Amino acid sequence: MKKIQISPSILSADFSQLGNEIKRLEEGGADMIHVDVMDGHFVPNLTIGPPVIKALRNHCSLKFDVHLMISPVHKYIDAYADAGADIITIHPEATEDLEKSILRIKELKKKVGVSLNPETKIDLILDHLDKIDLVLIMSVNPGFGGQKFMPEVLSKIKELKKIQLEKNINFDIEIDGGINFDNYKLAIEAGANILVSGTTIFKSNNGDIKKNIDLLKTE
Ligand code: DX5
Ligand code: ZN
Repeated sequence: MKKIQISPSILSADFSQLGNEIKRLEEGGADMIHVDVMDGHFVPNLTIGPPVIKALRNHCSLKFDVHLMISPVHKYIDAYADAGADIITIHPEATEDLEKSILRIKELKKKVGVSLNPETKIDLILDHLDKIDLVLIMSVNPGFGGQKFMPEVLSKIKELKKIQLEKNINFDIEIDGGINFDNYKLAIEAGANILVSGTTIFKSNNGDIKKNIDLLKTE
């Protein structure tokens, strides 16, 4: 059983204090920082890009788990790697050649993730599972924090976990969207080992980040 890791999403952080916010996450026991990059085209929201990631890089020693909700994505991969991303996760719907994008991320010596929207089937990435480090299962439609968890994706995680065991391949399963104190154990039981959370970590218990991270790590 892989150790459960918490990757807080800074989409729910105070954007006017991002440097301090990621320091708070590190001090609060986060395992990595989930950075939601949105371009207002692949998703109906616009957040941050390489310059902000570069500015944040030295404020925190944790890995940057960068979730690229942008399309096209291939031509921007190098910029996010240069800015300091450690894990680069892309959406298959956002690249004309998923294999080419996966290989480019690996060439840059970064960990590669592939993200599936709630309605996207695992079939789309079956042929690539042996090349990737992480599958990011969306439990909301991407674009905004604070949305309602979609429990129907749990069966997708179970299916992915089954395939992983049958093929004996090692990749992390990360779940992203609407994770809270009532559903995180369902995600873990289904097979997720990395939990992304924004609203629950930043807003619950009067914003007590350490308490909220500890609660999500409670078995
Ligand atoms: C949504 C993002 C998620 C989101 C998670 O498009 O990919 O990472 O910020 O935030 P919560 O935990 O509030 O759903
Ligand atoms: Zn995300």
